[in-house]
Amino acid sequence: MKIRRWLLALAGLFVLIQIFRIDKAVPAVDPAQDFIAIAAPPPELQQVLKSACYDCHSYETRYPWYAEVAPVSWWLKHHVNEGREHLNFSTFGALSDRDQLHALEESVEMVEEGEMPLGSYTWTHADARLSEAQKAQLVAWLKGFGAVGAK
Ligand code: HEC
Repeated sequence: MKIRRWLLALAGLFVLIQIFRIDKAVPAVDPAQDFIAIAAPPPELQQVLKSACYDCHSYETRYPWYAEVAPVSWWLKHHVNEGREHLNFSTFGALSDRDQLHALEESVEMVEEGEMPLGSYTWTHADARLSEAQKAQLVAWLKGFGAVGAK
């Protein structure tokens, strides 16, 4: 039977690709450069940042079980890599003053427009679905910190 053979081949392929695991290693960084350490937002916003942004925008990624299963793991790691590339809260303190300010402005924009956290992420992470009140609080605080905190 043709279909049976195809299914077997697919299953074999699925097993084979499990060899290619994602790299979860992170470099050693100075904890004093972390955004939350520097900016000291109120506890409820620290919680919001950790549960809605830090998985992709820091070295503190909490990997779910399916991060062990290719090809989903590759897709997930791609988001983490890209997220860190655009903005890494773990090394926020190493940015120039101008870049810090820019990162804050971009974050305000992303949250206001509902583009961050990514839709595919909130679908699987209920604790990252921000209420309108949480969004408003985060945006107001980011704007305030941008005005006084980041030089
Ligand atoms: C599932 C991973 C993921 C989560 C969670 C996430 N982001 Fe992102 N973020 C990305 C990726 C990928 C990009 C780059 C591609 C893009 O802009 O879509 C990005 C880009 C950004 C950028 C840069 C935009 C630009 O144009 O340079 C900012 C700022 C940002 N995110 C802020 C946030 C904030 C704030 C949160 C939490 C409220 C958050 N993100 C949550 C993955 C994520």
